Formats: sequence, structure tokens, C-alpha cells
Amino acid sequence: MPHDLHSSEADEGLALLIDKLCRTRSLSLGEYERLIAQRTPGTARELASRADAVRRQVYGTKVFTRGLIEVSSFCKKACLYCGIRRSNATARRYRLSADEIVKCANIGYDLGFRTFVLQGGEDPFFTDDVLCGIIGQIRAGHPDCAVTLSFGERSRKSYERLHEAGAERYLLRHETASPALYRRWHPPEMSLGNRMRCLSDLREIGYAVGAGFMVGAPFQTAADLACDLQFIEQFQPEMCGIGPFIPQKDTPFGDRPAGTAEQTVYLLSLLRLMQPKLLLPATTALGTILPDGRERGLAAGENVVMPNLSPLSVRKKYALYDGKLCTGEEAAQCIGCLSRRVQLVGANIVIDRGDVKS
Ligand code: 5AD
Ligand code: FES
Repeated sequence: MPHDLHSSEADEGLALLIDKLCRTRSLSLGEYERLIAQRTPGTARELASRADAVRRQVYGTKVFTRGLIEVSSFCKKACLYCGIRRSNATARRYRLSADEIVKCANIGYDLGFRTFVLQGGEDPFFTDDVLCGIIGQIRAGHPDCAVTLSFGERSRKSYERLHEAGAERYLLRHETASPALYRRWHPPEMSLGNRMRCLSDLREIGYAVGAGFMVGAPFQTAADLACDLQFIEQFQPEMCGIGPFIPQKDTPFGDRPAGTAEQTVYLLSLLRLMQPKLLLPATTALGTILPDGRERGLAAGENVVMPNLSPLSVRKKYALYDGKLCTGEEAAQCIGCLSRRVQLVGANIVIDRGDVKS
């Protein structure tokens, strides 16, 4: 059967590349591209089981949690894919007060969270003074917890002040490491150069840094995704958040097809093999595109879950894309059912700050 022969030959070629990746933790751009472009269900299964084994070697059965607090849906930027871009007049805007944010963290603490991710659009309301006050209150109330920030591009001075106030981690997805693709996804005033400047400032200041990229977004090719893998290999972030692109109807990319869970999970496995200690979160976008997306991701190398601690009244308004999961098991209050789902894939949620393994 020539067809089967062909596909098994292709699988064998890819298997050799996967072996090389496991041994050297590094491939050329062309090799990454081949692995991505020639994905087959067989290679995906092989990759997932190897990634799962590597995660177990490093982290055992532990899965870390982070309590996500979405503090503001105002944003001064206009990324073409994003539902809360400033030019989206139909986006529903909200902003939590400092008190509300601290209250979310207190509730999260009682639920067993030991790290809080404060995330928002680039909302000028959140000046350094405002953020430093909030960070200070959370750290004072819960000295055993880590505070992670995700407020986009800021100056080096600002990152320094926030770090001095007690924020130890910062999430800033690079979105795509391909300069040409970056330009197609962002308005002219944004640049990949500044994004990279931010990431290297964060690293130099001493933050644990989370980079990341979207999968299956408009115009993206296997060669672009290969650039992302090569960037991660070189930058070695502590965390890497990846999720499928999902269209939001009121954005310029509103009628584009979504990325797939299969490709996202495949890339997650590759990342685990490239960087065994990497913190890899199960993203809401993956859970949105496929009901058991996050379980599949957990079985293929992920080791972090980030349930939502934002007040229920605002959860739907933080609408980066359509159909976002915002009730049920992504909610922090459902940590019990989430634990059971994580146990189904042979892992356990732990009460821990969840630092990257040194
Ligand atoms: N689909 C999927 N992910 C998106 N993000 C923004 N818009 C979308 C979308 N339409 C991601 C970006 C951003 C993160 C907070 O959410 O990668 O960094
Ligand atoms: Fe600012 Fe999406 S455009 S958060």
C-alpha cells in the first residue's frame, strides 16, 4: 500500500528529528519548519507521549495553579486580532478598583492559590504608583504568594519600579517572532523591536519572564512558527503561553478561521521537549476551541492551569475573542472540579507558588 508506506516513511523522518530534539534540545529553523509542516496524527501522538514523560521527569505529577485577575478591558493599543483593541467601539469596558483587585486575591488565597496574575489591556489608569500600591497590598497580606503582572509594553523604569514593589514575574507574549508577520498583525506604531526590548529589560531586571505566541492566526505559516520555536530556544523564558487564534467578530480579523487545537497541542509538546523545565500553561483559548482542549494539553506537556478569579460580573467583558470560556471549570471557584479533571490525566494540583524548577 504505497500511501501507507509514504506516510510511515514521513513519520520515520520526523521521528529522527524528534530524537535529535530530545538529545540536543535544539534544531535548525528548517528542521523546526519540517516538524511543523509535516505533522501527522502519528507524530503528534509520539510527541505528546514523549513530552508527557519529560514533564513527569521534571515536575512529577505536580500541576501548578495561578489565579488570574483580569483587571481592565481598556487598552490604548490596536492589535488587529484583539477584541479589546481601542478601536473596537462595541467592546464592553470595565476597570476593577484597587480594592476589588485585592479582594479577588484574598478570595483566591482562601481557595488555595499562592500566585496571582494581574492582567489587563494597556490601560493608562494603571500607572506605576497605582500598580505599586496594589502589589504592595497583596504582598503584605500574603507574603507567601508571588505576584505576576501582564500589562503589556512599558518603559524599563516602570518595569524596575514594579519589580521593586514586589512583582517577581511578568507575562508578555511576543505574539510572533517573525518581523514581517508582526507587522501584519499590528498597527504601524507597534514594533517587534520594542516587544523584544521589553522582554530583555524584564529579563535583565530579574523577573521570571513569560513569552508566548498565537497559533493558526491569519497569514501565519509553518516557517513563522519555526521562528517562534527558535526564539524560545534562544531566549529560554521561564514560561511560554500559547493558544490558538480565535476570531473576534468586531476586529479586522473577525472573519478569519481559528487556529486548531491539534496544532497548538503539537507545538506545546515540542516546547516541552526543547525546554524540559519550561512552565507551560493550559490556556483559556485552548479550552475554548475544544471542550477537552486543556486536558489534551496537560497530557501533552502542559504543567500550569490558570483559573479565573475575576468577579463574575466582568468575566464576559474581557473578550479578547468570541466564545471565551467564562463559566464553569475555568473559574477559580471550581477548583474542586478542575482538580478532578487534572487527576484524569494522572496529575495533581498543588498549593504552591509554582516557581520554575532551578
Ligand atoms: N485569539 C487568541 N488569542 C488572542 N489574544 C489576543 N487576541 C486573541 C485572539 N483573537 C492573546 C494574545 C495576548 C493574550 C493576552 O491573548 O496572545 O497576548
Ligand atoms: Fe491591547 Fe489587546 S489590543 S490587550
